[in-house]
Amino acid sequence: MNDTPRAAPLLFTPIKLRSVVARNRIVCSPMCQYVSDDGAPGEWQLVNFGRFAMSGTGIVFGEETAVEARGRKTHHCAGLYKDSHIADYARINDFIRSLGSVPAIQLGHCGRRASAHGPLKERAALTEEDAQSGLKPWQGLAPSALPASPGGNVPRAMDMNDIKEHLAAWREATQRSIDAGYDIIEIHGAHGYLIHQFLSPVSNKRTDQYGGSLENRMRLALEIAEAVREVLPNDKPLFFRTSAVEGPGGEWGIEDTIALARALKERGVDVIDCSSGGISGDGPMPAIPRVPGYQVGYAREVKQKAGMTTMAVGLISEPRHAEAILQEGQADLIALARELMDNPNWPLQAARALGCEDPFDLVHAREAQRLRLREQHRREYAPGTEIKIPFGPTEEVPYSWSTLNTATRGRP
Ligand SMILES: Cc1cc2nc3c(=O)[nH]c(=O)nc-3n(C[C@H](O)[C@H](O)[C@H](O)COP(=O)(O)O)c2cc1C
Repeated sequence: MNDTPRAAPLLFTPIKLRSVVARNRIVCSPMCQYVSDDGAPGEWQLVNFGRFAMSGTGIVFGEETAVEARGRKTHHCAGLYKDSHIADYARINDFIRSLGSVPAIQLGHCGRRASAHGPLKERAALTEEDAQSGLKPWQGLAPSALPASPGGNVPRAMDMNDIKEHLAAWREATQRSIDAGYDIIEIHGAHGYLIHQFLSPVSNKRTDQYGGSLENRMRLALEIAEAVREVLPNDKPLFFRTSAVEGPGGEWGIEDTIALARALKERGVDVIDCSSGGISGDGPMPAIPRVPGYQVGYAREVKQKAGMTTMAVGLISEPRHAEAILQEGQADLIALARELMDNPNWPLQAARALGCEDPFDLVHAREAQRLRLREQHRREYAPGTEIKIPFGPTEEVPYSWSTLNTATRGRP
């Protein structure tokens, strides 16, 4: 018999990012909820994000949270643009932290994708008709005055003053995030939102220092990273979500992402969260097939070529798949969105599947104690053991293992 203790799965090995330690490498990926009230989260977010902390997730991101009100996609998107928001988020973060998870926020600005309905109404642009029901349209900002899709609302091209104000909004939202108790900030630089709109030659047609060359198109992303880093304490990690490759017909590819990652690293970004898509054009770029782990290769390339910590995301559902991605050195963190939605106790089940010594360590002591007791019950009698279930002080009924019957009560 081999007595060498089995190494703990990498998925459940703590990771230290600056001075923040996550108990494992499972991350709840950012998920917009479209239920905020003037930017503020409520009961839905407390329960929705709280449940992922309850089941042992290492890092729990909330939703994309706008740094300024006009940077929301819908009237119901989350924001952190007022000081009154701080206490609303702090309440959720205190709960998440009390359960052993690291609370994390994704800050962003949707740029030209502003002023729309949510996904249940196909993200249709708001019109003057919607204003009558309280959903007043507003004009989005963008690098160039080009709508996100043909016929969509035309945004205003940002001038130098807008850019200055925008950077100030990032600084303020960063300070509010710290005040609300977040330990990690992620800059949303993906999915066709403002930063991505500047990065992509499809949406950025500027002729000033923010457009044209790759260096110029990256300028806003880098200035935002600098602005956030200026405010974020040195011991807190900074993530950046990138669309490593953009949508069908897009132009931005992995080599651009590697260049961006290197430049972000120099500005104090610690982790690149490798997503994709969001901007499409007329070029030859094909659509990405949505197969399990379809974006893992992007995380591997950035990790190897830019020497950065990376997060893999996208149709990762199987614990062994998640573990293999880490073991093969393709990424350092595994983010899940829909799998956690479908199966909030995924971390607990993954710990069992990967043979962790005590999977129940992941959940609160109150639950762990009951679950350990259940395991003890399960081990108490080997299947097939002759058992009788008492039905009264003098009546015992044979138990049937074959049907897992509770006991059939026959007259003696
Ligand atoms: C309901 C929902 C909301 C999402 N909202 C965001 C968001 O706010 N920011 C973001 O970067 N990605 C968002 N995403 C994308 C996820 O973070 C994730 O990258 C994507 O769903 C792929 O991972 P999965 O296959 O595990 O779901 C969202 C996904 C879902 C399902």
